[in-house]
Amino acid sequence: FEKIESGSPFHNVKMIVTAGPTREKIDPVRFFSNHSTGKMGYAIAEEAAKLGANVTLITGPTAIAPPETVTTVRIETAQEMFDEVLKRYNDAEVVIKSAAVADYRPAKQYTQKMKKQSTQLVIEMERTNDILKELGRQKTHQLLVGFAAETNNLEEYAKKKIETKNLDLIVANNILSKGAGFGTDTNIVTMIDRELNKTELPLMSKIQVAKKLLDKVHLLLRERG
Ligand code: CTP
Ligand code: CA
Repeated sequence: FEKIESGSPFHNVKMIVTAGPTREKIDPVRFFSNHSTGKMGYAIAEEAAKLGANVTLITGPTAIAPPETVTTVRIETAQEMFDEVLKRYNDAEVVIKSAAVADYRPAKQYTQKMKKQSTQLVIEMERTNDILKELGRQKTHQLLVGFAAETNNLEEYAKKKIETKNLDLIVANNILSKGAGFGTDTNIVTMIDRELNKTELPLMSKIQVAKKLLDKVHLLLRERG
C-alpha cells in the first residue's frame, strides 16, 4: 500500500484507541491481569494524533505516560472498558482495539481481604464481555481494527477473528517471537484485511508498526470514499 505523503490525512477523524491490560479484582488486595504494557496502543494513539485525528485513548493501568495530544480515559476492568468504548461508538469513525482485555474475571469479588487457607485455593472465573465482538455486532459506518495475540497458528486464528468479530482489519502478532509482544519496544506483526490481503511486516519499533497500521487504515478509509 502507498505511504501517507504529508499533511493531516486524518484531519478531524474521530478515533478510539484502546490500550494496556485490564485488571479483574478478586478482593481489595489482588487482581488478575496480563503482561500488556500499553506501548503499542499508546504509539498508535500518538501517531494518529500527529496525523490529525481526534483521538480518545481508553487505557488500562500502565507504567507509561499517555501522549498529551489525546483525550485519555482510564479504566481498570474489562466491563469498564466495555462501557467507555460503547458509549462513544456511535460518534467514532475508526476504532483500534489494541488492549489486552481479560477473558475471565473472578465470579465473586470479596469486599474484605481473603484470608490464607491451610491448603489449596480454587477460584471460580466467569467470562467477561467481548468488547470487540459487540462492536462488530453494532457496526454501522465505523472502521473496526482488532489485534490478535497468538502463540501458534497465527494466521488461521487471526482470520477467524476477522469473521467472528466482523473486523475490517486485524493486526496479528506472535507473542512468543523474539522482539515481539508484551513489554518490548519492537513488534513483528501481520496485517490482514477483510479481503484477506496480507501484509507481513518485519521486526520494527512499535512506533513504526503504528505508522504502517495507520497507512493501511487511511487507505481503507479512502477506498470507502
Ligand atoms: N477483545 C475484546 N474484549 C475481550 C477480549 C478481547 O475487545 N473481552 C479484543 C482485543 O482487544 C483484541 C481482540 O479482541 O483486539 C483479540 O483478542 P485476543 O485475546 O487475541 O482474542 P480473543 O477473541 O479473546 O480469543 P483468544 O484469547 O481465545 O485467542
Ligand atoms: Ca483473549
